[in-house]
Amino acid sequence: MHIGIILDGNGRWASDKGLPRSIGHKRGAENLETILFECKRLNVLTVTLYAFSTENWNRPIYEVKALMSLFKYYLNKKFTSLHEENVRVTIIGEVSPFPKIIKKYIKNIENLTESNDGIQLNLAMNYGGRDEIVRATKKISQHVLDGSLELDNIDELLFSKFLDTGQQSYPDLIIRTAGEMRLSNFLLWQAAYSELYFSNKAWPDFTRQDLREAIEIYTNRSRKFGRVTHVKKKPSNF
Ligand code: IPE
Ligand code: IPE
Ligand code: MG
Repeated sequence: MHIGIILDGNGRWASDKGLPRSIGHKRGAENLETILFECKRLNVLTVTLYAFSTENWNRPIYEVKALMSLFKYYLNKKFTSLHEENVRVTIIGEVSPFPKIIKKYIKNIENLTESNDGIQLNLAMNYGGRDEIVRATKKISQHVLDGSLELDNIDELLFSKFLDTGQQSYPDLIIRTAGEMRLSNFLLWQAAYSELYFSNKAWPDFTRQDLREAIEIYTNRSRKFGRVTHVKKKPSNF
């Protein structure tokens, strides 16, 4: 099973308590660890966490800076414990605008965990679904231009392989916290058939029990409607 999480509401969680938004992000990051370990316990195979969107650069500079410090701390210090848990960490998104040191930590954690075969953790950083589709299109176009790919050979399967999620399965379930009901540019292609689950709780308050509930509701929905895991490319009798 692949779960995508749009962790939202860190800022409101803090503001409601009269605390700076950065504290909300800190608590949000701590909760991330809790939820990730619960995913592992529940045998979820892949988790994609929306940590920073292409639009999040528009936030006030002090908030962006607070988020960058958290990324540094987590990628360099905290995530090494994920390696001990056999987690494979992959960053999705366009990492070039990040500070050099963050890019270095990204490379390190990806290399360190590359051959782990436990849970696959995708961390979406400077990620936007539209941006990902544009980047994939450019990569494909380059192959057409240099003659290594025929226009007629471009189909959905080929296209999907050029996305940041590559060969990975699509998310079965996408959870968004804090009461907002939109995708905010998250996994636009991959979410075409994902079940969506919205929680009113702010992300720092989202518990392991809440996660189990979301999965249970997902499981009941898929039992009810029957899960189509494979659709034939073309109806065979036409
Ligand atoms: C989500 O919490 C975390 C990130 C976007 C990095 P928000 O910061 O969006 O919290 P709200 O939505 O303002 O409460
Ligand atoms: C989505 O949350 C992005 C992340 C969770 C990283 P936002 O809070 O940034 O989304 P909008 O602005 O409410 O749509
Ligand atoms: Mg938000």
